[in-house]
Amino acid sequence: MVGPKGVARDRYSPGWFARGNAAGTDDEGNTMDLGIKGKWALVCAASKGLGKGCAAALAGEGVNLVVTARGAEALEATAAELRQLPGAGQVIAVAGDIATPAARAAALAACPQVDILVNNAGGPPPGDFRDWGRDDWLKAIDANMLAPIELIKATVDAMAERGFGRVVNITSGAVKAPIDVLGLSNGARSGLTGFLAGLARQPRLASRNVTINNLLPGVFETDRIRTTLQGMAAKTGKSVEQLKDERRATIPAKRYGTAQEFGQVCAFICSAQAAYLTGQNILLDGGAYPGTF
Ligand SMILES: NC(=O)c1ccc[n+]([C@@H]2O[C@H](COP(=O)([O-])OP(=O)(O)OC[C@H]3O[C@@H](n4cnc5c(N)ncnc54)[C@H](OP(=O)(O)O)[C@@H]3O)[C@@H](O)[C@H]2O)c1
Repeated sequence: MVGPKGVARDRYSPGWFARGNAAGTDDEGNTMDLGIKGKWALVCAASKGLGKGCAAALAGEGVNLVVTARGAEALEATAAELRQLPGAGQVIAVAGDIATPAARAAALAACPQVDILVNNAGGPPPGDFRDWGRDDWLKAIDANMLAPIELIKATVDAMAERGFGRVVNITSGAVKAPIDVLGLSNGARSGLTGFLAGLARQPRLASRNVTINNLLPGVFETDRIRTTLQGMAAKTGKSVEQLKDERRATIPAKRYGTAQEFGQVCAFICSAQAAYLTGQNILLDGGAYPGTF
């Protein structure tokens, strides 16, 4: 991540993937070996956006992948792209809605063993809680709380037996600083976070090199953020472009994050080196959250 003279490189400029840097290689070819080559990862909701960023970074580390998404065509295209990355191992695509037991069973069946689990799903729609009924809440809870818990239940004990396991849950900065129009997300993800805070600390997992951490995205340049901004535009009467500029101005980094840099942090959390990091909520937001902790 740092050049030979200690100079940080701009790894996130356009063409970063194309230059082969998804493998954690800087412009001089220096690498940090994350010690996970040959492991198997199940990366959910990975045909685009943050899930794809995680899949790409893991593929670049030589991790074999099962990737999922509902749309089969986009997923196959992404799987083909991932196979082309330098250092990539096997990449298996399994289409299906990860919020359903059938899709989870198919994804698990396709993965010879799950050493790394990246939980992800689309976020719930924006809106006002006065308009939401029980079904809206159950959909959000199914996708953003119960699906990850079910996948964790299906995989962590075998990880513990093998003495290696990494679970990364893509949640949201909304867990730390709730976003008004995303009440379904604030609620369902906070439920997941509270549950995992206890699970990650079970000695039968933590003492067997199984870590469970959450990655909390702030604002990232993906399709999801465009949908969220459209919801805010409908509520405020401002244009999406105006809201986008206003939001960017509040971020100390003065930019939105990229899926690639999100994926690189995910890959590090999945590394052999990160064995002592568990039960944490790691906020990636360019400094937007104003608190000391
Ligand atoms: N981007 C941000 O700034 C941001 C900020 C905070 C939180 N988040 C959260 O982070 C997560 C990922 O966001 P993103 O920005 O990467 O979204 P995105 O660009 O819209 O990508 C979502 C990916 O998930 C797949 N997917 C969605 N629902 C699925 C399901 N039920 N089963 C399987 N695959 C599913 C989509 O493919 P298909 O549609 O084909 O299934 C797509 O590959 C979301 O939960 C989002 O709310 C994002």
